[in-house]
Amino acid sequence: MALELKEYGADRFSIAPMIDVTTSAFRRFTRIMTKRSMLYTEMIAAEALVHGKLNLIAHDNNELPCVLQLGGSDPQKLAIAAKIGEDCGYSAINLNAGCPSDKVQSGSFGAILMKTPDVIASCVEKMQSAVKIPVTIKTRIGVDDLDSFDYTVKIVKTIYDSGCRHIVLHARKAWLNGLSPKENRSIPPLDYDRVYAMKEMFPDLFITINGGILTIDDCLLHLKKVEGVMLGRAIIDNPYLLSSVDRDIFEDGSEVKSRENVLNEFADLCEKFLSEGHRFHHMAMHGLNLFNGCHGARRFRQYMSAHMHQENADASLLLKAYQKMQGA
Ligand SMILES: Cc1cc2nc3c(=O)[nH]c(=O)nc-3n(C[C@H](O)[C@H](O)[C@H](O)COP(=O)(O)O)c2cc1C
Repeated sequence: MALELKEYGADRFSIAPMIDVTTSAFRRFTRIMTKRSMLYTEMIAAEALVHGKLNLIAHDNNELPCVLQLGGSDPQKLAIAAKIGEDCGYSAINLNAGCPSDKVQSGSFGAILMKTPDVIASCVEKMQSAVKIPVTIKTRIGVDDLDSFDYTVKIVKTIYDSGCRHIVLHARKAWLNGLSPKENRSIPPLDYDRVYAMKEMFPDLFITINGGILTIDDCLLHLKKVEGVMLGRAIIDNPYLLSSVDRDIFEDGSEVKSRENVLNEFADLCEKFLSEGHRFHHMAMHGLNLFNGCHGARRFRQYMSAHMHQENADASLLLKAYQKMQGA
């Protein structure tokens, strides 16, 4: 069983794809703390790539390994977009079949695809024939009234039969009518046992579990049952959690950096980012929660939020915010 493997790929711990969060800037920030984890892009519409909007997937090699997540339901367009992603150097291509936003539903992709597992399978097959890198799926355990155990099996089996060998399963269903995307991330109850059961039924399927995982200890418990964990909001709220991932999840013997060291490296990264012609706050915003849980964290965040949009803002702001945090 894959669970007994001594060498783990980056998929053992991944940072969830999150629109407006997991940008290239965010991914560069996270790499200060974890070299081993698998990173994801935000969901990128396949259609946009087919129309040549390659700026949407620009990235720095330092971000690798990184998965390009695509949204779409047209197998042909997804295949073209997947090939573009492969040619740009991404490590794998993931199809979003779990996102419940209205925008995504009107384009007939995301969570609505769970109602038609055959369409997911056709998309996977076409994408797999276009690329050599892995094609993976991110989905949920059900949608609307299609939420029985048997329906989860149907989704997973259809995907498995298409040849896909890695599924990210968000351990709750999506309610497409009546709940906002935000509510859909907290109101439908989590059912981790359902995900573990899929692992038992499909032993050679790499399963990444997602949803409501908050700590490294939680991750280690899930990793006794499935091969991969994926965290989203916990990392927005407490990015410093990433600093112990390489040591505690990948067991690579690396040392955990102090928050102060992370801050110094982040300041260097912000300088570099500015010198590349970007706006300071597009990078700085990702570090606002770096000190969460520490005394004075609110002062750090407030000082940054108040000043980081200013025209002349630069990395020295981080050090000033740090001094404010310490009461200076
Ligand atoms: C701000 C935000 C944006 C998100 N955007 C995406 C997305 O682009 N693609 C996707 O598959 N899921 C998206 N999600 C869902 C997350 O990937 C993840 O499945 C969900 O937040 C549950 O994991 P968590 O409890 O660890 O946050 C988003 C979540 C958040 C909070």
